[in-house]
Amino acid sequence: MNRIDLLASLASDSNILLDVGCDHAYTVITACKNYNVKKAIASDIAEGPLEVAKANIIKSGLEDRIKTIKSDGLKQVEDDFDTLIISGMGGLLIKDILESSIDKIKNKKLILSPNRDYYDVRLFLTNNGFQIIDEYAFYDKSIFYEAIVAIPGEMNITEFEIKYGPILLKKKDEDFINYYQKQYDKFNKALKNIKKIEEKDNLELLIADYRKILN
Ligand SMILES: C[S@@+](CC[C@H](N)C(=O)[O-])C[C@H]1O[C@@H](n2cnc3c(N)ncnc32)[C@H](O)[C@@H]1O
Repeated sequence: MNRIDLLASLASDSNILLDVGCDHAYTVITACKNYNVKKAIASDIAEGPLEVAKANIIKSGLEDRIKTIKSDGLKQVEDDFDTLIISGMGGLLIKDILESSIDKIKNKKLILSPNRDYYDVRLFLTNNGFQIIDEYAFYDKSIFYEAIVAIPGEMNITEFEIKYGPILLKKKDEDFINYYQKQYDKFNKALKNIKKIEEKDNLELLIADYRKILN
């Protein structure tokens, strides 16, 4: 399963799916075509991606079920929705987008797939009344991604789980283990050439984390 297909499948059976930062709109198109999503909103901050999205939606014949909106995050989104996807951006940007529209995302299902800064996204969820119900770690075209599914609720979560994913740490899927094995090998090699004590200490802490994941 490729990244877009996995993200679309996580929105299965939604009534109205909102994709913020939709770019090409492939995720909402796949969700409506293959995963029983009734309607969708494809939004993006930039005109260029939205034009591409509109053309792809028309090409797919789904213009009666998918609407496009130009919006910075959710700020200009007035429509209701039950599921929100934000993917393919840094975790800090995803966190900022969620934080600045906190009232609009309460009671929604969130599907978040940052390409870095996973910690910041999980910390936001922990501190804002969301519960992580599923997680995926995977490679698509040699790039490592994570996807987090969250719903309103409480969770007991440790600092280590916020860093590396409470469900990922339980599942220990092949791609997750491969990613941290590579990080472990890379950082162990790098350690030999580092002279500064502080840098060395930080790297050793990370290596200890990775050893814990791999054990
Ligand atoms: C790398 S693309 C990811 C596209 C798609 N979500 C995916 O996962 O393949 C990032 C998209 O997010 C849009 N974007 C960046 N900041 C945004 C914001 N604050 N609000 C809405 N869209 C934003 C960009 O214009 C771009 O189209």
